[in-house]
Amino acid sequence: MKQIDVNTKLLGLFGNPLSFTMSPLMHNTAFTQMGLNYLYIPFEVKEEDFAGTIQAMKYFNFAGCNVTSPFKTRVIEYLDELDDRARIIGAVNTVSLKDGRLKGYNTDGGGFVESLRFERNVQPKGKRFIVLGSGGASRAIVMTLAFEEADTIYIANRTYRKALELAEDVNKVRRCAVPLELNSEEIEKRIEETDVVINTTKVGMYPDTAKIPIEIKKVHNKLIVCDIIYNPIQTRFLKSMAELGCATITGIGMLVNQGAEAFRIWTGQMPPREQLYSLIENTLQQRAAAQS
Ligand code: ATR
Repeated sequence: MKQIDVNTKLLGLFGNPLSFTMSPLMHNTAFTQMGLNYLYIPFEVKEEDFAGTIQAMKYFNFAGCNVTSPFKTRVIEYLDELDDRARIIGAVNTVSLKDGRLKGYNTDGGGFVESLRFERNVQPKGKRFIVLGSGGASRAIVMTLAFEEADTIYIANRTYRKALELAEDVNKVRRCAVPLELNSEEIEKRIEETDVVINTTKVGMYPDTAKIPIEIKKVHNKLIVCDIIYNPIQTRFLKSMAELGCATITGIGMLVNQGAEAFRIWTGQMPPREQLYSLIENTLQQRAAAQS
Protein backbone atom coordinates (compact mmCIF):
# COMPACT_ATOMS: atom_id res chain seq x y z
CA MET A 1 0.00 0.00 0.00
CA LYS A 2 1.48 3.33 -1.00
CA GLN A 3 1.98 5.98 1.62
CA ILE A 4 -0.59 8.77 1.41
CA ASP A 5 0.32 12.00 3.14
CA VAL A 6 -0.61 15.68 3.16
CA ASN A 7 1.41 16.29 0.00
CA THR A 8 -0.26 13.54 -2.04
CA LYS A 9 -1.69 15.03 -5.23
CA LEU A 10 -5.13 13.79 -6.12
CA LEU A 11 -6.56 12.94 -9.52
CA GLY A 12 -10.24 12.18 -9.91
CA LEU A 13 -12.16 10.30 -12.54
CA PHE A 14 -15.65 11.81 -12.78
CA GLY A 15 -18.35 9.95 -14.71
CA ASN A 16 -21.29 7.61 -14.26
CA PRO A 17 -21.26 4.61 -14.40
CA LEU A 18 -17.59 3.75 -13.76
CA SER A 19 -17.71 0.07 -12.88
CA PHE A 20 -15.66 -0.97 -15.95
CA THR A 21 -12.92 1.63 -15.75
CA MET A 22 -9.28 0.54 -16.07
CA SER A 23 -7.88 4.02 -15.42
CA PRO A 24 -7.32 3.80 -11.63
CA LEU A 25 -5.32 0.57 -12.05
CA MET A 26 -3.28 2.04 -14.88
CA HIS A 27 -2.44 5.39 -13.26
CA ASN A 28 -1.89 4.18 -9.70
CA THR A 29 0.43 1.39 -10.93
CA ALA A 30 2.47 3.95 -12.88
CA PHE A 31 2.60 6.40 -9.92
CA THR A 32 3.87 3.64 -7.63
CA GLN A 33 6.46 2.38 -10.13
CA MET A 34 7.76 5.87 -10.81
CA GLY A 35 7.74 6.90 -7.13
CA LEU A 36 5.33 9.80 -7.75
CA ASN A 37 3.20 10.97 -4.83
CA TYR A 38 -0.15 10.99 -6.67
CA LEU A 39 -3.39 9.06 -6.13
CA TYR A 40 -6.08 8.46 -8.79
CA ILE A 41 -9.63 7.87 -7.50
CA PRO A 42 -12.85 7.13 -9.45
CA PHE A 43 -15.98 9.01 -8.34
CA GLU A 44 -19.43 8.20 -9.72
CA VAL A 45 -20.95 11.67 -9.81
CA LYS A 46 -24.66 12.48 -10.08
CA GLU A 47 -25.67 14.91 -12.84
CA GLU A 48 -26.87 17.48 -10.30
CA ASP A 49 -23.58 17.33 -8.34
CA PHE A 50 -21.21 17.72 -11.28
CA ALA A 51 -20.75 21.52 -11.14
CA GLY A 52 -20.04 21.36 -7.40
CA THR A 53 -17.61 18.46 -7.88
CA ILE A 54 -15.50 20.38 -10.39
CA GLN A 55 -15.45 23.47 -8.15
CA ALA A 56 -14.54 21.35 -5.11
CA MET A 57 -11.31 20.20 -6.78
CA LYS A 58 -9.94 23.67 -6.09
CA TYR A 59 -10.42 23.25 -2.31
CA PHE A 60 -8.47 19.98 -2.14
CA ASN A 61 -5.03 18.93 -3.30
CA PHE A 62 -6.15 17.99 -6.84
CA ALA A 63 -3.72 18.12 -9.78
CA GLY A 64 -6.53 17.44 -12.22
CA CYS A 65 -9.02 14.82 -13.34
CA ASN A 66 -10.35 12.69 -16.14
CA VAL A 67 -13.92 13.25 -17.21
CA THR A 68 -15.97 10.59 -18.94
CA SER A 69 -19.55 9.89 -20.00
CA PRO A 70 -21.89 11.75 -19.55
CA PHE A 71 -19.79 14.85 -18.72
CA LYS A 72 -17.25 15.24 -21.55
CA THR A 73 -19.07 18.15 -23.18
CA ARG A 74 -20.68 19.69 -20.12
CA VAL A 75 -17.37 20.07 -18.26
CA ILE A 76 -16.26 22.78 -20.71
CA GLU A 77 -18.46 25.46 -19.12
CA TYR A 78 -16.65 25.07 -15.76
CA LEU A 79 -13.09 25.42 -17.11
CA ASP A 80 -10.83 28.49 -17.07
CA GLU A 81 -8.96 27.50 -20.22
CA LEU A 82 -9.32 25.10 -23.13
CA ASP A 83 -6.65 23.52 -25.29
CA ASP A 84 -7.18 24.36 -29.02
CA ARG A 85 -7.76 20.76 -30.12
CA ALA A 86 -10.25 20.11 -27.31
CA ARG A 87 -12.13 23.28 -28.31
CA ILE A 88 -12.44 22.16 -31.92
CA ILE A 89 -13.39 18.60 -30.93
CA GLY A 90 -15.92 20.06 -28.48
CA ALA A 91 -15.20 17.53 -25.72
CA VAL A 92 -12.78 17.22 -22.82
CA ASN A 93 -11.58 14.04 -21.13
CA THR A 94 -8.60 15.44 -19.19
CA VAL A 95 -8.35 18.49 -16.93
CA SER A 96 -5.25 19.92 -15.28
CA LEU A 97 -5.40 22.13 -12.20
CA LYS A 98 -2.42 24.47 -11.83
CA ASP A 99 -2.28 27.70 -9.82
CA GLY A 100 -6.01 27.50 -9.23
CA ARG A 101 -6.83 27.31 -12.96
CA LEU A 102 -8.62 24.43 -14.67
CA LYS A 103 -7.50 23.67 -18.23
CA GLY A 104 -9.25 21.11 -20.44
CA TYR A 105 -7.70 18.76 -22.99
CA ASN A 106 -8.88 15.90 -25.18
CA THR A 107 -6.47 12.95 -25.20
CA ASP A 108 -8.90 10.45 -26.80
CA GLY A 109 -8.05 11.26 -30.41
CA GLY A 110 -4.37 11.78 -29.65
CA GLY A 111 -4.35 8.48 -27.76
CA PHE A 112 -5.71 6.66 -30.78
CA VAL A 113 -3.20 8.27 -33.15
CA GLU A 114 -0.37 7.52 -30.74
CA SER A 115 -1.40 3.83 -30.70
CA LEU A 116 -0.98 3.80 -34.51
CA ARG A 117 2.55 5.14 -34.10
CA PHE A 118 3.43 3.08 -31.06
CA GLU A 119 2.11 -0.27 -32.30
CA ARG A 120 2.46 -0.06 -36.09
CA ASN A 121 4.83 2.85 -36.69
CA VAL A 122 2.16 4.57 -38.82
CA GLN A 123 2.05 8.37 -39.13
CA PRO A 124 -1.42 9.67 -40.13
CA LYS A 125 0.00 12.36 -42.44
CA GLY A 126 -0.88 11.59 -46.06
CA LYS A 127 -2.72 8.35 -45.16
CA ARG A 128 -6.26 7.30 -46.06
CA PHE A 129 -8.72 6.16 -43.43
CA ILE A 130 -12.18 4.61 -43.25
CA VAL A 131 -13.83 5.33 -39.89
CA LEU A 132 -16.95 3.40 -38.90
CA GLY A 133 -19.32 5.45 -36.71
CA SER A 134 -19.79 9.16 -36.14
CA GLY A 135 -20.48 9.48 -32.39
CA GLY A 136 -18.33 11.12 -29.72
CA ALA A 137 -15.39 8.72 -29.97
CA SER A 138 -15.36 8.99 -33.76
CA ARG A 139 -15.40 12.78 -33.58
CA ALA A 140 -12.29 12.91 -31.35
CA ILE A 141 -10.47 10.47 -33.66
CA VAL A 142 -11.37 11.96 -37.05
CA MET A 143 -10.69 15.52 -35.90
CA THR A 144 -7.26 14.45 -34.65
CA LEU A 145 -6.55 12.64 -37.93
CA ALA A 146 -7.43 15.89 -39.70
CA PHE A 147 -5.13 17.92 -37.37
CA GLU A 148 -2.39 15.41 -38.23
CA GLU A 149 -2.90 15.99 -41.97
CA ALA A 150 -4.50 12.71 -43.04
CA ASP A 151 -5.09 12.65 -46.80
CA THR A 152 -8.68 11.31 -46.80
CA ILE A 153 -11.06 10.22 -44.04
CA TYR A 154 -14.17 8.34 -45.13
CA ILE A 155 -16.76 8.48 -42.33
CA ALA A 156 -19.25 5.62 -42.66
CA ASN A 157 -22.28 5.70 -40.40
CA ARG A 158 -25.59 3.84 -40.07
CA THR A 159 -27.36 7.21 -39.91
CA TYR A 160 -25.92 8.91 -42.99
CA ARG A 161 -26.99 12.41 -41.86
CA LYS A 162 -24.66 12.19 -38.86
CA ALA A 163 -21.74 11.13 -41.07
CA LEU A 164 -22.46 14.12 -43.27
CA GLU A 165 -22.60 16.54 -40.31
CA LEU A 166 -19.34 15.23 -38.86
CA ALA A 167 -17.63 15.36 -42.28
CA GLU A 168 -18.74 18.99 -42.65
CA ASP A 169 -17.24 19.85 -39.25
CA VAL A 170 -13.97 18.08 -40.11
CA ASN A 171 -13.76 19.87 -43.45
CA LYS A 172 -13.82 23.21 -41.64
CA VAL A 173 -10.52 22.16 -40.01
CA ARG A 174 -9.04 20.59 -43.13
CA ARG A 175 -10.73 19.47 -46.33
CA CYS A 176 -10.23 15.70 -46.06
CA ALA A 177 -13.50 14.07 -44.89
CA VAL A 178 -16.06 12.26 -47.05
CA PRO A 179 -19.33 10.84 -45.64
CA LEU A 180 -20.36 7.30 -46.60
CA GLU A 181 -23.27 4.91 -46.11
CA LEU A 182 -22.33 2.12 -43.71
CA ASN A 183 -22.53 -0.80 -46.13
CA SER A 184 -20.07 -3.40 -47.39
CA GLU A 185 -20.26 -2.36 -51.01
CA GLU A 186 -19.42 1.30 -50.31
CA ILE A 187 -16.51 0.32 -48.10
CA GLU A 188 -15.08 -2.40 -50.33
CA LYS A 189 -15.11 0.05 -53.25
CA ARG A 190 -12.62 2.22 -51.33
CA ILE A 191 -10.58 -0.40 -49.53
CA GLU A 192 -7.86 -0.71 -52.18
CA GLU A 193 -6.82 2.90 -51.63
CA THR A 194 -7.24 2.82 -47.82
CA ASP A 195 -4.43 2.44 -45.27
CA VAL A 196 -6.38 2.09 -42.02
CA VAL A 197 -9.95 1.06 -41.06
CA ILE A 198 -11.17 2.01 -37.56
CA ASN A 199 -14.31 0.80 -35.80
CA THR A 200 -15.50 3.46 -33.36
CA THR A 201 -19.02 2.05 -32.87
CA LYS A 202 -19.82 -0.09 -29.84
CA VAL A 203 -21.02 -2.92 -32.12
CA GLY A 204 -19.35 -6.14 -30.93
CA MET A 205 -18.83 -4.97 -27.35
CA TYR A 206 -19.64 -7.32 -24.46
CA PRO A 207 -22.28 -8.74 -24.01
CA ASP A 208 -23.19 -8.55 -27.76
CA THR A 209 -19.89 -10.06 -28.88
CA ALA A 210 -21.41 -11.94 -31.86
CA LYS A 211 -22.24 -8.64 -33.60
CA ILE A 212 -20.08 -7.01 -36.26
CA PRO A 213 -20.33 -3.42 -37.54
CA ILE A 214 -19.73 -4.40 -41.17
CA GLU A 215 -18.72 -7.49 -43.19
CA ILE A 216 -15.64 -6.76 -45.27
CA LYS A 217 -14.46 -9.56 -47.56
CA LYS A 218 -12.07 -7.66 -49.79
CA VAL A 219 -8.80 -6.35 -48.30
CA HIS A 220 -5.17 -5.80 -49.30
CA ASN A 221 -2.11 -7.06 -47.52
CA LYS A 222 -1.01 -3.69 -46.07
CA LEU A 223 -4.37 -2.80 -44.55
CA ILE A 224 -4.38 -2.06 -40.80
CA VAL A 225 -7.65 -2.58 -38.95
CA CYS A 226 -8.36 -1.08 -35.51
CA ASP A 227 -11.17 -1.46 -33.03
CA ILE A 228 -11.51 0.91 -30.08
CA ILE A 229 -13.51 -1.73 -28.14
CA TYR A 230 -11.42 -3.53 -25.50
CA ASN A 231 -14.08 -5.80 -24.02
CA PRO A 232 -13.54 -8.29 -25.63
CA ILE A 233 -9.92 -7.58 -26.58
CA GLN A 234 -10.37 -9.42 -29.89
CA THR A 235 -13.76 -8.38 -31.27
CA ARG A 236 -15.44 -10.47 -33.95
CA PHE A 237 -14.63 -7.66 -36.39
CA LEU A 238 -10.90 -7.75 -35.60
CA LYS A 239 -10.81 -11.54 -35.70
CA SER A 240 -12.48 -11.67 -39.11
CA MET A 241 -10.08 -9.03 -40.50
CA ALA A 242 -7.04 -10.81 -39.03
CA GLU A 243 -8.23 -14.02 -40.75
CA LEU A 244 -8.13 -12.14 -44.07
CA GLY A 245 -4.49 -11.25 -43.35
CA CYS A 246 -4.80 -7.69 -41.97
CA ALA A 247 -2.63 -6.33 -39.18
CA THR A 248 -4.83 -5.27 -36.26
CA ILE A 249 -4.79 -2.92 -33.27
CA THR A 250 -7.09 -3.65 -30.33
CA GLY A 251 -8.82 -1.08 -28.12
CA ILE A 252 -6.04 -1.45 -25.54
CA GLY A 253 -3.96 0.82 -27.78
CA MET A 254 -6.24 3.84 -27.45
CA LEU A 255 -7.01 3.08 -23.79
CA VAL A 256 -3.35 3.05 -22.72
CA ASN A 257 -2.27 5.95 -24.91
CA GLN A 258 -5.09 8.33 -23.97
CA GLY A 259 -4.17 7.59 -20.34
CA ALA A 260 -0.46 8.06 -21.00
CA GLU A 261 -1.08 11.47 -22.55
CA ALA A 262 -3.23 12.53 -19.56
CA PHE A 263 -0.49 11.27 -17.21
CA ARG A 264 2.06 13.40 -19.07
CA ILE A 265 -0.18 16.49 -18.81
CA TRP A 266 -0.49 16.04 -15.02
CA THR A 267 3.07 14.98 -14.13
CA GLY A 268 5.26 16.11 -17.05
CA GLN A 269 6.48 12.49 -17.43
CA MET A 270 5.50 9.51 -19.61
CA PRO A 271 4.40 6.32 -17.81
CA PRO A 272 5.91 2.92 -18.78
CA ARG A 273 3.55 2.14 -21.65
CA GLU A 274 4.72 -1.42 -22.47
CA GLN A 275 4.16 -2.47 -18.87
CA LEU A 276 0.75 -0.81 -18.81
CA TYR A 277 -0.23 -2.65 -22.00
CA SER A 278 0.59 -6.00 -20.36
CA LEU A 279 -1.12 -5.05 -17.11
CA ILE A 280 -4.33 -4.01 -18.88
CA GLU A 281 -4.27 -7.03 -21.19
CA ASN A 282 -3.85 -9.46 -18.29
CA THR A 283 -6.55 -7.75 -16.25
CA LEU A 284 -9.00 -7.77 -19.16
CA GLN A 285 -8.28 -11.45 -19.82
CA GLN A 286 -8.98 -12.29 -16.19
CA ARG A 287 -12.18 -10.26 -16.30
CA ALA A 288 -13.28 -12.04 -19.50
CA ALA A 289 -12.63 -15.43 -17.90
CA ALA A 290 -14.81 -14.39 -14.95
CA GLN A 291 -17.57 -13.23 -17.37
CA SER A 292 -17.77 -16.56 -19.24
P1 ATR B 1 -19.57 7.10 -28.48
O1 ATR B 1 -19.55 8.36 -27.69
O2 ATR B 1 -19.04 5.92 -27.74
O3 ATR B 1 -18.93 7.24 -29.81
P2 ATR B 1 -22.24 7.48 -29.46
O4 ATR B 1 -21.93 8.94 -29.51
O5 ATR B 1 -23.52 7.02 -28.87
O6 ATR B 1 -21.11 6.71 -28.66
O7 ATR B 1 -22.08 6.91 -30.95
C1 ATR B 1 -22.35 5.59 -31.26
C2 ATR B 1 -21.98 5.32 -32.74
O8 ATR B 1 -22.15 3.92 -32.97
C3 ATR B 1 -22.86 6.03 -33.75
O9 ATR B 1 -22.10 6.31 -34.90
C4 ATR B 1 -23.94 4.98 -34.03
O10 ATR B 1 -24.58 5.10 -35.28
P3 ATR B 1 -25.92 6.00 -35.45
O11 ATR B 1 -25.46 7.42 -35.59
O12 ATR B 1 -26.56 5.48 -36.69
O13 ATR B 1 -26.75 5.75 -34.22
C5 ATR B 1 -23.09 3.73 -34.02
N1 ATR B 1 -23.92 2.54 -33.78
C6 ATR B 1 -24.53 2.19 -32.63
N2 ATR B 1 -25.19 1.03 -32.77
C7 ATR B 1 -24.99 0.63 -34.07
C8 ATR B 1 -25.39 -0.51 -34.83
N3 ATR B 1 -26.13 -1.49 -34.30
N4 ATR B 1 -24.96 -0.59 -36.13
C9 ATR B 1 -24.20 0.39 -36.66
N5 ATR B 1 -23.79 1.48 -35.99
C10 ATR B 1 -24.17 1.61 -34.71
